[in-house]
Amino acid sequence: TAPIIRKLSDIRALTAGWKSTGERIGVVPTMGALHAGHMSLVEAAKAECDRVIVWIFVNPKQFNNPEDLANYPRTERDDAAKLAPYAVDVVYAPDVDQVYPEGFATTVSVSGLTEVLCGTHRPGHFDGVATVVSKIFLQTGADRAYFGEKDFQQLQVVRRMARDLDIPIEVVVCPTVRETSGLALSSRNLRLSSAAHEVAANIYPVLRDLAEELEQGSRFHPLEARGRARLAEAGIKEVEYLELRGETGLEALDHASVPARLFVAAWVDGVRLIDNVPVRPA
Ligand code: PAJ
Repeated sequence: TAPIIRKLSDIRALTAGWKSTGERIGVVPTMGALHAGHMSLVEAAKAECDRVIVWIFVNPKQFNNPEDLANYPRTERDDAAKLAPYAVDVVYAPDVDQVYPEGFATTVSVSGLTEVLCGTHRPGHFDGVATVVSKIFLQTGADRAYFGEKDFQQLQVVRRMARDLDIPIEVVVCPTVRETSGLALSSRNLRLSSAAHEVAANIYPVLRDLAEELEQGSRFHPLEARGRARLAEAGIKEVEYLELRGETGLEALDHASVPARLFVAAWVDGVRLIDNVPVRPA
């Protein structure tokens, strides 16, 4: 299994050695509870980089709900075992004080992109993400960082942050990995009962059908109500948002006039799930 490092000074010493010989470093940021979605990022990193760091840290600053933080799955031993076949160079699972030392007082906050979708429903969440991801980039000094399309808004926030702060790293995006049912893999799926799991599997087909109609030129306004009705019929009544937005700027759209995405966040059996699909311009 890959060695686990807990201290910033140790990861710095390791990466300094790699950099001195010109090796290209990839980092895969995660909060653990690893599944095939995470592994697809690890595979991409392994294929494209000389050295791969898997970051595992359940970042307290991005949880706006203390209960969600307390219930977040922590499976470090299983995670290390799952990573073994991929032969990553190191797992960096920093102690909390290595990320947030006594007196830590800085917040990285991206405006605009964070004021919609999950940003309006999870106050402070994206500040927590932008702050920790800045630290991931600066602590590891990686050349490339791998993110999933599953968390599309997070991806755009991270890209903006790296550009705005002149952090010399390439943000690489990997497609969403799904179960055969279509349900996007998520660490939170572990908290779904088997009945709730079946209910959750309705999210993706609804998104796909709506996307298809949008690609044929339908307007979103009437479709949104139909989408919500279909989700409700399937047992998903608590839909936080179902929105069509531009892919780069996340501006609200009423039809697919530019490359767009359909975004959803919904609660199933007390578990908050998100997903998104591309919509090509009609
Ligand atoms: P986490 O939820 O563990 O996700 C880590 C990475 O895996 C993210 O880039 C996410 O988009 C990707 N991922 C999750 N499910 C996926 C799926 N089904 N298919 C493809 N990729 C998937 O996102 C976070 O952690 C945190 O916010 C983090 C960036 C680590 C900062 O704390």
